[in-house]
Amino acid sequence: MKVATTIESLQDLLKDWTEKKHTIALVPTMGGLHEGHLSLVRMAKNQADKVVVSVYLNPAQFAQNEDFDSYPISTESDIVELEKCSADAVFIPNSEQIYPKDWSFDYQVGEISSILCGVTRPHFFNGVAKVVYRLFEIVRPDIAIFGQKDFQQLFVIKKMVDDLSLGINILSHSIVREQDGLAMSTRNKYLNKKERVTAIQLSACMNSAKDKYLSGMQIDKVNTELRQELSENFELDYAEIVDANTLKIITDNTVQIGILCAVVLGSTRLIDNITFWR
Ligand code: PAJ
Repeated sequence: MKVATTIESLQDLLKDWTEKKHTIALVPTMGGLHEGHLSLVRMAKNQADKVVVSVYLNPAQFAQNEDFDSYPISTESDIVELEKCSADAVFIPNSEQIYPKDWSFDYQVGEISSILCGVTRPHFFNGVAKVVYRLFEIVRPDIAIFGQKDFQQLFVIKKMVDDLSLGINILSHSIVREQDGLAMSTRNKYLNKKERVTAIQLSACMNSAKDKYLSGMQIDKVNTELRQELSENFELDYAEIVDANTLKIITDNTVQIGILCAVVLGSTRLIDNITFWR
């Protein structure tokens, strides 16, 4: 596996692969890799001839008061884990490589960036779109793989690819969870022992809401009870039950339901979602 820290050294490899007509998959990450990330890499290996994983903690998607400075970095062990998954290259650029002075990007994600996570993190999705576009520009992958854990992010990326006609196939991987149901996240490292036990309630409450909905309870009541239950354990950011294909209100045409939640536990923000057929 090649470890590239500059665009030049990565592009030598990409040129060789392109000449050999190999298909290329990109898995963008911010490092602090766990089994969720590694599942995306294994999926990429099944979908393309060559797999590039990027590890870059993107300042553009963090606000001043957020955890950019404390975000768990584990580059050495990330490289070891990626090697074990047979990734072909890992790209670990610095900010001069990603955001050179003369580079600009004026695409705006639009309405979707101001709902759900965008309400409390208005800067977030434009920052994600900016770095993912830049990575696409550098790697020019045929395929890029993202996790359903960041459900709204997946919508943002797909919309950007459509809006800008980037011709990249966006695939997604289901959420990888701990045995007790907690969705894996780099930020779970912030949880102390007591918080780690409480954190289980997030997926438990969502699953109980799903059961209530499927057994016929009226949706507003399901949502009210979900918010109440989450508030007993967490500081609630949002809990919404939406059409999983539009992220909007459920209509007669809705075929798949999404329950999307964000909560704060101590100083840790957790997000999770479940989707199911109506
Ligand atoms: P990061 O949080 O490192 O996640 C990288 C990718 O791994 C994302 O596509 C995310 O959805 C996926 N992922 C994380 N935890 C997962 C889990 N438990 N199950 C399945 N997939 C999981 O998301 C980002 O980084 C950044 O916003 C990025 C896209 C890299 C842009 O900076």
